[in-house]
Amino acid sequence: MRRRSKIDKKILDGFLTRETSFLMAEEVKALVGTMRISVEQLVEQLLPWAAEKAIVPASRFKVGAVSRGSSGNLYLGANIEFKDMPVYTTIHAEQASIANAVSHGETGIKALSVTAPPCGMCRQFLSELNTSAEMKIQVGNTEAVLLPQLLPRGFGPDNLDVRFKLMDEVSKGFSFKNPTDDELANKALEAANKSHSPYTLSHAGIAVKTRNGQTFIGHYLENAAYNPSMLPLQAGLSNLVMAGRNFAEISDVVLVHGQDASVNHVEAAQSLLRSISSVPLRVYKAE
Ligand code: THU
Ligand code: ZN
Repeated sequence: MRRRSKIDKKILDGFLTRETSFLMAEEVKALVGTMRISVEQLVEQLLPWAAEKAIVPASRFKVGAVSRGSSGNLYLGANIEFKDMPVYTTIHAEQASIANAVSHGETGIKALSVTAPPCGMCRQFLSELNTSAEMKIQVGNTEAVLLPQLLPRGFGPDNLDVRFKLMDEVSKGFSFKNPTDDELANKALEAANKSHSPYTLSHAGIAVKTRNGQTFIGHYLENAAYNPSMLPLQAGLSNLVMAGRNFAEISDVVLVHGQDASVNHVEAAQSLLRSISSVPLRVYKAE
């Protein structure tokens, strides 16, 4: 058994890089085949890899999460704390993992594993997902439970008579009044079109570029209970960190928000961006 786990570690070490933020279904299949383990066991072994990505200047407490999409892909997440910023800017590992899945076009989450018990906010955040009723939650290697067992009698989209859930595929049809060939703005527009804001109708998306030419998108992921919502820049920065990049590498950031939104995305994005970079926030309105 010890020998086996050493081999497993070697295989994973050889396959994963610092840049690995998700595994495609085919890669998952190949890995479990080579390692002769179950997907659940693979997920368990990925958790420390996910947790390593955490940025925790305040708590020094690294949390790792891995979600399993309907596609069979696996998405890594870790917590991110922003130095000298209010605690509410903190991104939880579970949120990071979901933002990662959304940015890769995932349309549902079957299960989520995490190294520490999900806090109340995360349980609430996850209850927004279109698969919340049947989604399994696993803490470390303990027995998995269904999300509703962790959040009985919860407050969700139904309480506000909203039918659309997080990860449902509904394009919002936003476009620019004057089309632009600004590539980053168009990516942020695409993200805004896939953002989830059925309550305040304040759709928004972000695109973040790094010096090496990579682009990361982030979607506004709203929650029925408002506060646990994930802001577009939080999602974009989280995706960037999961992919092994760091804030110092950011070279350009564009926020796209719909006009007449009741939520102001600009101020929050500016203040969060200022805390980690001197790059200015470029803002576009869409209609
Ligand atoms: N944390 C998570 O990432 N997920 C949870 O649900 C529990 C708490 C993080 C937030 C903060 O960065 C650190 O753990 C201490 O609370
Ligand atoms: Zn949490």
